[in-house]
Amino acid sequence: MNRAFKRSLVLIAVFAGAPATAETAPGEVTIDDMAVAQPVTAAAGDAINGRKVFADRGLGNCLACHVNSDLKNEQFQGTVGPALDGVADRWEAAQLRAIVVDAKKVFGPETMMPGFYSLDVGVDVAEEFKDKTILSAGDVEDVVAYLTTLKGE
Ligand code: HEC
Repeated sequence: MNRAFKRSLVLIAVFAGAPATAETAPGEVTIDDMAVAQPVTAAAGDAINGRKVFADRGLGNCLACHVNSDLKNEQFQGTVGPALDGVADRWEAAQLRAIVVDAKKVFGPETMMPGFYSLDVGVDVAEEFKDKTILSAGDVEDVVAYLTTLKGE
């Protein structure tokens, strides 16, 4: 292999590994005083996509445990957690981000709510989910943006 070719291979490897937007890796997120002050990705959260992620049974699946009147056309809404109507009146955006990133760091290790951007998801994790988070950094910011729209009338 000649040198120039080798160098181009190295460059390809470097660029392929670089994330499209700057993200904070799941293990690197700072949860301080029940809040994550810094967004986990550089791109601003999109509330419209966040609403989809929230309702998506394969992504957030938040309705499995939470009632949300904003999505009243969705069939099943669980009551394991509190209803999220008006949740933005109860929590600041940075606190909502902490709850979505890793609820165990906010409510304690016994909470039923999964850590959506944490690698610490439990002991019986299926092999395919090891080292993966339930939501991507972008999904987390989108869900947080959506939650901040849930205000009381
Ligand atoms: C397996 C059940 C479960 C799922 C799934 C779940 N949660 Fe929760 N959530 C809870 C429970 C339980 C609480 C109450 C905290 C506690 O006491 O453990 C909670 C609390 C919350 C709170 C604080 C509510 C308040 O009024 O104080 C927010 C916000 C929240 N969840 C958002 C979400 C979002 C967004 C999703 C989806 C990405 C989600 N939850 C998925 C169980 C769940």
